[in-house]
Amino acid sequence: MYNLNGQVAIVTGAGSGIGRAITIRLSLEGAAIVAADVDGMAAEKLIREIKDLGRRGLSSEIDVSIAKDVERMVKGTMENFGQIDILVNNAGTGSTGLIIDHSEEDWEKPLQVNLKGTFLCSRAVAKEMMPRKRGRIVNISSIAGKSGEEFIGAYCASKFGVIGLTQVLAKELGRHLITVNAVCPGYVWTPMWENLALWFKENFPSMAELSPREVFERRVKAVTPLRRPQTPEDIANLVAFLVSDEARNITGQAINVDGGAVMQ
Ligand SMILES: NC(=O)c1ccc[n+]([C@@H]2O[C@H](COP(=O)([O-])OP(=O)(O)OC[C@H]3O[C@@H](n4cnc5c(N)ncnc54)[C@H](O)[C@@H]3O)[C@@H](O)[C@H]2O)c1
Repeated sequence: MYNLNGQVAIVTGAGSGIGRAITIRLSLEGAAIVAADVDGMAAEKLIREIKDLGRRGLSSEIDVSIAKDVERMVKGTMENFGQIDILVNNAGTGSTGLIIDHSEEDWEKPLQVNLKGTFLCSRAVAKEMMPRKRGRIVNISSIAGKSGEEFIGAYCASKFGVIGLTQVLAKELGRHLITVNAVCPGYVWTPMWENLALWFKENFPSMAELSPREVFERRVKAVTPLRRPQTPEDIANLVAFLVSDEARNITGQAINVDGGAVMQ
């Protein structure tokens, strides 16, 4: 366990999957939580659970790709808690298909949410962290940000971009003693992967008879040396370490939690 008592953490995309696990973990470590999500009801439900555990929290219904939403989230956090110590840029979305079949919307959606959202939240939060000479930013990228993958081209481009932005921010914010790292999950069964599995089923006759979960498991076994998927809690474990004092000398890194699927 890491002691985050007295610290304040913003987690975007907190309402589902990996973001939900990160939020619960940081809360159990002692941080007060701002759970931000475009799905305001999911964020609110999570905060009620956190408060039932006797912890502090606030929900914020925002779209991370809209600057004024992000400013409202930061203002609300400062008014309620007076400081921001941790930002986890986790909100994410995808699109599917060959690049030659991508519409402009297919291209823009992942870029807007995954990359621009990370830029907007980091920009707004870093300004609050800098005067205090402390802060931790963790960006959830993907192994698809390290190795190009067919059928998810715009998503890959956005996640490569997140790793580049992580390195830039680590260099620019280092003098303010703010660390910035990326975490790259491999295969985690969440609503995002379920949508991808449904797309594979619809587009590949060989997968039509499989359940979405079987499509996922088959992929995991084919590409993962450890032959098992990752859990949201596996990802939260690394995030908890990276925001702790024990990781004070780690910045600008992009670390995979993927059972060895990608080794770079
Ligand atoms: N599931 C995986 O295998 C996997 C692998 C690699 C990386 N990731 C990344 O992990 C992160 C979390 O994904 P997940 O699998 O938990 O997906 P998920 O779909 O379960 O959760 C994503 C959350 O982000 C929220 N969100 C989407 N667009 C938003 C926006 N514009 N503003 C605010 N919130 C928004 C959604 O409402 C949802 O609560 C994403 O960045 C994703 O790319 C996931």
